[in-house]
Amino acid sequence: MVQKILLTGGAGFIGSHTYVALKAAGYEAVILDNFSNARQDVIDRLEIITGAPVEHVVGDVLDGALLDRIFSEHAIQAVIHFAALKAVGESVDKPLDYLNTNIVGLYSLLGAMQRAELFSLVFSSSATVYGEPARLPVDETAPRSFNNPYGFTKLVCEQSLEQIAASDDRWAFGVLRYFNPVGAHETGLIGEDPNDIPNNLVPYIAKVATGELEQLSIWGDDYDTPDGTGVRDYIHVMDLARGHVQSLDALLASGAGHVVNLGTGTGYSVLDVLRAYERAAGRTLRYRIAPRRAGDVACVYGDTQLAEQTLGFKAELGLDEMCASSWNWVSRRKNT
Ligand code: WQD
Repeated sequence: MVQKILLTGGAGFIGSHTYVALKAAGYEAVILDNFSNARQDVIDRLEIITGAPVEHVVGDVLDGALLDRIFSEHAIQAVIHFAALKAVGESVDKPLDYLNTNIVGLYSLLGAMQRAELFSLVFSSSATVYGEPARLPVDETAPRSFNNPYGFTKLVCEQSLEQIAASDDRWAFGVLRYFNPVGAHETGLIGEDPNDIPNNLVPYIAKVATGELEQLSIWGDDYDTPDGTGVRDYIHVMDLARGHVQSLDALLASGAGHVVNLGTGTGYSVLDVLRAYERAAGRTLRYRIAPRRAGDVACVYGDTQLAEQTLGFKAELGLDEMCASSWNWVSRRKNT
């Protein structure tokens, strides 16, 4: 029997790419999204990519009655929970929105799953729970902390899932700690599509490359890193999507939960990324050195062994492919 999965926030950047990967792996899927950070036409573009209608519901995970209706109308076997707010800076400005959407939203979903007797959940977490790791590469046993409301919500959600799983062995959680997802599907029909000025590095560079923004501000070049700029573990969004499929496969096959890093294990600096993007776009991109951004850490990249041992997951795409796929996406969008 084909297994059907609910993707909350499935119209978003990671969710839409995971939808494509799930369909390619033979799963059926239903998207629930309030479209607060996604364009409605992503559904049409997903239908072009997958060659089939995309079942979707417009709504919010905080709406328990809607979730009950979805679980009664669709034979869902598991849920992948993407629906959350994820901008660090915005979380400082709107902490209550973040606590409500990210924490209460998860509890609303878990309550509806329990009412429907569904106990398999893949949860979108983040390397942000590691703060500034004492040791690199950072592995899953590293201490967790937070230094902004967004990071706080991710930590509280992880600890909540731990408590539930420890008390009730019907539950199985796949907790995936993303490093820095970038890039786009090879068709260039879906990609990262921030509503306003991007907070994150690659979508900002992309808008410099298309001419929508004038220059990149590099937040600090005096870090203790090879070229002084911040180092991160960038992972291609299609590798990340595949990681979700492998997490789901493992959950449904074994009923056992896991907490794993989804990264490449390689750190690249801001300047490395800028140069890679220049190669992808075939043009020089303007930048200036600006003061450090509050809350930034110097260097983070992940230990990928546990994901490989537990899920058989290993990232395959490199920085040049990430930038080339991003450039293909943004240059297509600008021309449409
Ligand atoms: C990367 C590097 C910046 C923008 C955040 C969240 C994390 C996850 C991904 C949700 C840093 C530098 C950036 C710019 C710059 N989000 N930079 N100029 O901060 O590693 O992670 O987004 O899950 O939880 O914390 O990503 O892309 O913002 O920054 O110099 O205009 O690029 O200083 O070194 P970050 P980022």
